Amino acid sequence: MILQIIDICYLVAVVLFIVGIKMMSHPDSARKGNSTALAGMILAILASFLTPGLDNLALILIAMALGTVGGLYSAKTVQMTAMPQLVSFFNGMGGAAAALIGLVEYGDLPIGDIGKGAVLMSSLVIGSVSFSGSLVAMGKLQGVLKDIRINKMLGFVVLAIAVGLAAYILTSGAPQPTLIYVLVVLSLIYGLMFVYPIGGADMPVVISLLNSLTGVTAATTGLLYDNKVMLMGGILVGSAGILLTLLMAKAMNRSVSNILFTSFGASAGTAAAGQDGDQVAKEINSYDSSILLAYAKRVVIVPGYGLAVAQAQHAVHDLEKILEEKGVEVLYGIHPVAGRMPGHMNVLLAESDVSYDKLIEMDDINEKFPNTDVVMVIGANDVVNPAANDDPSSPIYGMPILEVNRATNVIVIKRSMSSGYAGIQNALFFDPKTRMLFGDAKKVLNELVGEVKNM
Ligand code: TAP
Repeated sequence: MILQIIDICYLVAVVLFIVGIKMMSHPDSARKGNSTALAGMILAILASFLTPGLDNLALILIAMALGTVGGLYSAKTVQMTAMPQLVSFFNGMGGAAAALIGLVEYGDLPIGDIGKGAVLMSSLVIGSVSFSGSLVAMGKLQGVLKDIRINKMLGFVVLAIAVGLAAYILTSGAPQPTLIYVLVVLSLIYGLMFVYPIGGADMPVVISLLNSLTGVTAATTGLLYDNKVMLMGGILVGSAGILLTLLMAKAMNRSVSNILFTSFGASAGTAAAGQDGDQVAKEINSYDSSILLAYAKRVVIVPGYGLAVAQAQHAVHDLEKILEEKGVEVLYGIHPVAGRMPGHMNVLLAESDVSYDKLIEMDDINEKFPNTDVVMVIGANDVVNPAANDDPSSPIYGMPILEVNRATNVIVIKRSMSSGYAGIQNALFFDPKTRMLFGDAKKVLNELVGEVKNM
C-alpha cells in the first residue's frame, strides 16, 4: 500500500514538473510555473521519506538543512550578472552528487549485472565530467580562470581511455575498487580538458549542455534506484538542456560543435577605435537626445549586456514611463541572445516591472523599425551589428540581428567605442543616422529622465 502511495505522489510530482516547465515558457506565468515545479519537488522529497527501510534519517535531514540554507542564501544574494556562475555551480553539485552515488553504490553492485553496471558507470563518468566542467565554467565566467588551449585529440584520448576502463571494470567479473577511483579521476580530467579551451563568453551554451548532462545522470541514477520521479525529472532536465543549447547556438548562428570545438573570436578583428577608416562616430549629449525622444511618436529601446552590467533596468523603466506620459509609444526590441544568458533581458526588465506586452521579439520588432522615430540601443553591440547581414568575412556573419539602422534615428548608449563579446567593430556606430551617447547606462538614463521631465 505504502509503495502505491509513493508511486502516486511521484506521478503527481512529475505532472507538476511538466506543467511548471510549460508555465515557465511565458513571463506572465513563469513565477507560478516555478512555484508549481517547486511544489512537485517538495512532494517528491516528502514521498521519498515514506520509502520502507529508510535509514540515516538524521544525516539526510542535516544534509538537506545545509543545502537549503546554502541554496537560499546564494539565490537571494546573487547579482543578475553572476547568475550563469551560480547556475553552473548548482549544476556542478548535481553532477558531483550523481558521481558520489555511483561510487557508493558500486560496492553493492552484483557482479555480472552488466545492465545495472553500465548505468552506474554512466552516472559516475558523466557526473564527474559535469562536476569538473561546471566548476571550470564558473571560474571562467567569474574571470578567475583563463582560456587555456588544450589539444582536442588529447581530450578525446582521455575520454576513450575512461570509456575503455569502464568497459573493462564492467566485464572483468571481479570487483575493481581501485580502478573505479581511477575512472573518476580520468572523468574529472576530461571535464577540465573539455571546458578549459572554450571561450568565456560561450560558457552559457556550455553550461546549458553540462546541465543537460547532469539531467542525464539524474535519470541514470533514477534507473539505478528504480526511482521513477528521479528518472522523469532527469529526462526533463536532459531534454530541456539540449533544446536550450541548440536554440542558443542557432540564435548565435553557430553550430554546437563550432562552439565546443573551436575558440570563438579567433578570427575576430581587434576592438574598435573611435574611427572606422574615414568615418568618425558622431556624439550627442543627453539634452539633445531627450528632445529627439520626447518629440518622437515611437521609441524602441534595445537593451544589451551593458544594461545588465550597469543595473540600469529601473532607470530604463522610469524613462519609458515618463516618455509615455508625453504620448510617446515605447517598445523594447529583444534579441534572443542579448546579454549573457538565455532570457537575460526579459528577466532583467521583468525585475523592474516593464510590462511583458512591450517586449517585442526580434522578427516582429524588425518589421516595426522603418516606422520608428528613435531606436535607443543601451549597452548592446553585437546584436545590432549590421556586419551580421553585410560582411561575409565577419565572425558574426549570418547571426540574426535587430536591424535598428532601418529606423529614422539611432542613439547608442555605451561607455566607449570598445567592442562587445565578439570583439569586432560595429559599423552601426558610424552610420549617418547614429549618435553616440557616451557614459554608464544607468547614469545616462537617469540624466535623460531628468531632461525629459523638464521639458
Ligand atoms: P555585447 O555585444 O557584449 O555588448 C555589450 C556592450 O555593452 C559593450 O560594447 C559595452 O561597451 C557596453 N557596456 C558594458 N558595460 C556598460 C555600462 N555600464 N554602461 C553602458 N554600456 C556598457 O552585448 P549584446 O549586444 O547584448 O550581445 C550579446 C553577445 O553575447 C552576443 O555576441 C551573443 O552571441 C553573446 N552571447 C550571448 C549569450 C546569451 S544566451 N545571451 C550566450 C553566449 C554569448 P563599452 O565597454 O563601450 O561600454
